[in-house]
Amino acid sequence: MQWLHGASMPELLTLSRAARLVGVPRGTLQKRIKDGELPTFEGMVKASDLLKVFPKTRLEDNAVLERLAHLRESAYARRIRERILPDPEVLATRVLELGRELSWTRAQFSHYRNILDALEMRFGELERTGGGVQVAAASLKKWLHDQRDAVIAEKEVTARLMAQVCVLRLMAAHVQVLPSNREFFVEGNDTILDAALHAGLSLDYGCSNGNCGLCKARVVSGQVKKVRHHDYTLSEAEKARGYTLLCSNTAVTDLVVEASEAGKPTDIPLQTVSARVQRIDRLSGNAMLRLQLLMPRSNRLRFLAGQSATLEVGGASEELPIASCPCDERHLEFHLRASDATPLTEYAFGQLKTNDLVMVEGPSGDFILREESPRPLVFLAGGTGFAPIKSLVEHAMALEVAETINLYWFASEAGGGHYLRNLCRAWSDALDNFHFTALAADGNYAAALQSIAASHGRLVEFDFYVAGPADFTEASGRFLREHGISPEQLNTQMVA
Ligand code: FES
Repeated sequence: MQWLHGASMPELLTLSRAARLVGVPRGTLQKRIKDGELPTFEGMVKASDLLKVFPKTRLEDNAVLERLAHLRESAYARRIRERILPDPEVLATRVLELGRELSWTRAQFSHYRNILDALEMRFGELERTGGGVQVAAASLKKWLHDQRDAVIAEKEVTARLMAQVCVLRLMAAHVQVLPSNREFFVEGNDTILDAALHAGLSLDYGCSNGNCGLCKARVVSGQVKKVRHHDYTLSEAEKARGYTLLCSNTAVTDLVVEASEAGKPTDIPLQTVSARVQRIDRLSGNAMLRLQLLMPRSNRLRFLAGQSATLEVGGASEELPIASCPCDERHLEFHLRASDATPLTEYAFGQLKTNDLVMVEGPSGDFILREESPRPLVFLAGGTGFAPIKSLVEHAMALEVAETINLYWFASEAGGGHYLRNLCRAWSDALDNFHFTALAADGNYAAALQSIAASHGRLVEFDFYVAGPADFTEASGRFLREHGISPEQLNTQMVA
């Protein structure tokens, strides 16, 4: 195990952890901070301030606690337990660390209690001995009493919240990445790399198998533990400076790591991977095909959400938008339309079957999410333009930073219809900040765009992502530019 120091004050919470506690997306907390409602201390929030802004937080009703209770009750949950709960050694170290913080907090509390008691005694003496001072002392003593009682009452509520923080810390370690300051959680025995990808971060890596050294990062504070074998050897100097392989280690305690991330398409090299067909779904009465590929663990395609890749199988090849997000681990998804009748779609509809090998080369394209933008998101998809939009929506959901995500999908029956309408409805049901509207694509987009504009008020307060056939992206782009949307707020992608 590797241990480097840097403990934080227990009552201060990172935004990610605070968001989990009160059950809102991180973007909602950021908005409250921006509006001046929630104070921050070096990017963290106080538990007591959090309770003031979210007084309706039901302390007994927390998704993580519920999950834990469910696991305890379920006699059949052994496999799930093994996947979700950290291993005993990791758990024991986290308990020890929490124990240390508990003793520190207790010592502080009793120290302040002693000071208050001593002060009270001094005032009592003043009261007994003093003329004019007597009145002042009596009122000060009363004030001191009131203050102490108020502090104790407030502490009780905060303590209950902090007890939940302890459970969260046992279940998952928090990781902060420098210099981007992005945050994510490591659950169960996940490697730090897998957890980061799952949370939508684009950390640098290569083999994800302990061979190439590309996922090397410096642990600034916290403790990691090797959970997967690696052949790559770190030098003694690197080890002394705290370097570790993110693909082979898990987080035992909360971590701060220095790691490189891809922020733009040129940060990621062109790769070729051989993936196996995992599943083929025929949708909209065989008008559409949803192709799901599984990549080998040691050779995954690195890409940014919204990018494309070239598929090659049965002598046919074609560049297609990737419909899954990098957070979807080893899975890649593509949407093919029968009426496109390209050599690749004809092969896929006619001959491709489960377990076949498909060569994937990529990534390509720059239709990616502007993650640093604080604006809420509007996605406009036309027909199979839904594929790259789906990738971006899933990525935005994984990042949990968008205040609202609005999806409008224009489709016609002839063009395959809203072939994953149920998925969009499931997103709407699961997330309060996601809104979906299915619209008909009749070639006349002006009226629909006008009504979308009317429902959003000031359009300039949103970022827009538009993907679909040429007439759709051109009409939408023109409409948005005419309504004052700047080039930084508008990203378009032509999909045939
Ligand atoms: S990604 Fe290759 S060693 Fe970690």
